Amino acid sequence: MVEQDLFLVNLKRSFREIFQNTNTAEGYFAPGRVNLIGEHTDYNGGAVFPCAITLGTYAVIARNQRGYMRLFSSNFREVGIREVALSKVEFAQEDQWANYVKSIMWVLQLEGVSFEEGFDIYYHGTLPNQSGLSSSASIEVLSCMMFLSEQQMTFSNEKIALLAQKAENDFMHVQCGIMDQFAISMGKKDHGIYLKTQTMEVKYAPIILGDYQLMIVQSNKKRTLGDSAYNQRRLECEEARRLLSKKKVIESLCELTVEDFYELQDLIQDPVLRRRAFHVITENQRTIDAYEALQKGDLLKFGRLMNESHESLRDHYEVTGKELDTLVETAWKQTGVIGARMTGAGFGGCTIHLVQKDCVGSFIHEIETVYEKECNLKADFYPVSIGGGPKKILS
Ligand code: GLA
Repeated sequence: MVEQDLFLVNLKRSFREIFQNTNTAEGYFAPGRVNLIGEHTDYNGGAVFPCAITLGTYAVIARNQRGYMRLFSSNFREVGIREVALSKVEFAQEDQWANYVKSIMWVLQLEGVSFEEGFDIYYHGTLPNQSGLSSSASIEVLSCMMFLSEQQMTFSNEKIALLAQKAENDFMHVQCGIMDQFAISMGKKDHGIYLKTQTMEVKYAPIILGDYQLMIVQSNKKRTLGDSAYNQRRLECEEARRLLSKKKVIESLCELTVEDFYELQDLIQDPVLRRRAFHVITENQRTIDAYEALQKGDLLKFGRLMNESHESLRDHYEVTGKELDTLVETAWKQTGVIGARMTGAGFGGCTIHLVQKDCVGSFIHEIETVYEKECNLKADFYPVSIGGGPKKILS
């Protein structure tokens, strides 16, 4: 029996143990994502360049004839089974992670999809918790695709991404952009996803790294206040856009080139707002340049742009913090590291690193030691394997 089949068999067994449900059960998977470059550009009409990874979320689902949902996650056993009525889907603090599933039921109901029959669903995530590798978007996209599939319906993967974003914005009240849900829905094995968020134009780029390995380092720093600081950054960008529009009307910051910004920057008096806009506009240009560098196989340039991205996120956007800076700045000093930056929203979560394959061992050793000494935390290391999008697992 191949590994995946065995994995599914075990998940189905766990499902039956938890729910005592012997109806026919199906398995589904959605990946997590890592962003190579293009941070905090997606809600400013800019470019992003993420990829789906092979770590993600699994679910096993079966009908329960109860007229309500029962949800369980092996990652949050202490939360127990959450019961959700089909008619009145509302956010409830005590449902914790299960609110993400509810947000999808809610958004699908708005789309006219009705849930008349109850399901039992067992979730199992292989993404580290609080890693900033989009475990929440993974649950959302997975649930959306799974619910549609169980109702014999299909929406395009792009539509699933947009619905999952709406669920997160309007039900979870996190004003995220489209990157995470899009990267997860549209994932393609061994490819980066270059997306211009203003037009939703997408280009897939093969990721060919030759002698280099992309490494994710999980800081294990809790993202306290992450969501409110994120929403705050969005408001700051909106205010900067409004001020810049006094001379040149723009709908989003990334309509401006870096040169435009230098010309117009005096319209923004507040140095904080000015720094925020500077990051967004230069990051958009770095993302365009990084995509082109990768197309040409210029990994050194790609790595330099990653480094510049981190510096800007640290100095202008101010979303890094001691832990992420320690990981990245230590990496910059290591032999064989040609690029390193934080990835995702920031304030905790993960960093990514482009490391010469021969040097991965010494890289892990050195980062682990320095990080523990400086930040009193243990880092976890994952090589990036770029995987495909959400799918039903055929057994
Ligand atoms: C989070 C959001 C994304 C994006 C990143 C920052 O992951 O969900 O939409 O804004 O932060 O690039």
